[in-house]
Amino acid sequence: MADQASRQGERYASAEILDYVARIHAGHDAGLARAFAVPEGVPSIMVGPSEGRLLQLLARLGGARKAVEVGTLAGYSAIHLARGMGPLGRLWSIEYDAGHAALARDNIAAAGLSAQIEVRQGRGADVLPSLSQHAPFDLVFLDADKEGYPDYAAWALEHLRPGGLLLGDNAFLFGDLLAEGGRASAMRAFHELVASRCDSVCIPTPDGLVLGIVR
Ligand code: SAH
Ligand code: DHB
Ligand code: MG
Repeated sequence: MADQASRQGERYASAEILDYVARIHAGHDAGLARAFAVPEGVPSIMVGPSEGRLLQLLARLGGARKAVEVGTLAGYSAIHLARGMGPLGRLWSIEYDAGHAALARDNIAAAGLSAQIEVRQGRGADVLPSLSQHAPFDLVFLDADKEGYPDYAAWALEHLRPGGLLLGDNAFLFGDLLAEGGRASAMRAFHELVASRCDSVCIPTPDGLVLGIVR
């Protein structure tokens, strides 16, 4: 198993190949380009174009109409998710940093998605309870503080419908998933919780993307 897993983990794609396929399949229009190009002082830590496109297509495949995101940054992944849900979709996206939240609202407005995406400013743990009234959800995407993933996932599993999608970015924890310490054990607890309650996989994107379908 370990041998097979590591053999499959060998890289066949150069940076040039990855850029090429992202350009062909996941190119940016003006709305996505604006949310991807953050101003100085804002960290450029959004999902990559191919991962964003994957989120969009998963939302569409899953027929998602109501979704929650924890960690908005500048709205790049939110725009993908909302586009995947189509005009009947509604996304609540939670962002702790007030500057990021304001930037995201601006980018979301420029992308014409203000009616579909609501950015709620605050900590995930504080804001999630206020969204319970909109449950059941079809999709929850976790991409904020990594220590929070187990609690966010527990909330998600209570408020997603059976068949709903639970997604988590940075599932390899920047390469530290198997390290000692609180952040790594939190991320492992997240993996184990998702696997115990969902049909799940960790997609080997550059930093891992967990996908679970709630049983
Ligand atoms: N999902 C975005 C990227 C999010 S980056 C995209 O792909 O486009 C992570 C974001 O989580 C940052 O903007 C950070 O400010 C925010 N964040 C950190 N801790 C948080 C918390 N406890 N609650 C909500 N947001 C948090
Ligand atoms: C960080 C957070 C992310 O969600 C990510 O995808 C990359 C980096 C960070 O906090 O540094
Ligand atoms: Mg991330």
